[in-house]
Amino acid sequence: MKKTLLMMGPLLPSTMQKIEDAYDVHRYWESNDKDKLLKSIEGSCEGVVTDGGTGVSADVLKQLPNVRIVSVFGVGVDAVDLEYCQNQSIKVGNTPDVLSDDVADLAVALALACCRRLVNCDTYARSGLWATQGAMPLTTRMTGKRAGIFGLGSIGASLAKRLEGFGMSIKYCNRSQRSDIPYEYVASLEELAESVDFLFVTASASGDALKAINSKVLEKLGPAGYLINVSRGTLVDESALIGALKKNHIAGAGLDVFADEPHIPESLQKLENVVLQPHHASGTTETREAMGQLVIDNLAAHFSGKPLVTPVLP
Ligand code: 8YV
Repeated sequence: MKKTLLMMGPLLPSTMQKIEDAYDVHRYWESNDKDKLLKSIEGSCEGVVTDGGTGVSADVLKQLPNVRIVSVFGVGVDAVDLEYCQNQSIKVGNTPDVLSDDVADLAVALALACCRRLVNCDTYARSGLWATQGAMPLTTRMTGKRAGIFGLGSIGASLAKRLEGFGMSIKYCNRSQRSDIPYEYVASLEELAESVDFLFVTASASGDALKAINSKVLEKLGPAGYLINVSRGTLVDESALIGALKKNHIAGAGLDVFADEPHIPESLQKLENVVLQPHHASGTTETREAMGQLVIDNLAAHFSGKPLVTPVLP
């Protein structure tokens, strides 16, 4: 008999198909009466599938007492109630590493888009301003500049490799210094911000890092500095960032993530010194297929009594 799963949101059709072939799947996001759905699978549901942004709350898990695995489509598990899972011996799996290259690529793209003003230049070219007003004002170079990386995990390390190709010096701030990596470690985020031209955020959104990019850090980054965030919006004090951008206290920001997704503050949308993305750094077909496969592999491992392939909580 197929095991029963609750899915919190849709995944790629190919991944959905494979999961639905192997399991009896209930679609939370499509249900008009979510309490009724949860009641109907209260005794039978043994696993939850969700994505990084949606996660799953303790409220939902409490109504499904036989769930023993949460398989997350994403590396970030901040939207899953990990404390509850730990207390209830619920395993949690995520999809690390397979997305690191694409997320790092987008961080580079955002940095270039900001300093070379790609979006503004595109508008300038499309609108005919080039013909009427002459050449576009000059932009700022990225090659050879100083990069700071907040959070040097798998994504941060992939990013650093790319930045080396741009001849950039690289420093990082992390929970602890890494002995396997040659870059300069800086313990304080303010100190890191003060000494770089581009501050990249690739840290995971754990408790002590929330709003770590605050007004003081932005002040240290200064009027020539760019902030690039491909991790979580919750790592940045968004109103402080908007204030800093409005007053040109920093040069610009490239943002893939926001505090209250999918809502982006209108004041941020109106600014010309930002480049915005709809939380899409891992959004290539190749990476999303690989993430989907890991979600499936973690489920299969769990239901055949093996350790998860990529456990957050084993
Ligand atoms: C999302 C992400 O999971 O990996 C993460 O933590 O934020 C993304 O890859 C993606 O948006 C899927 O919904």
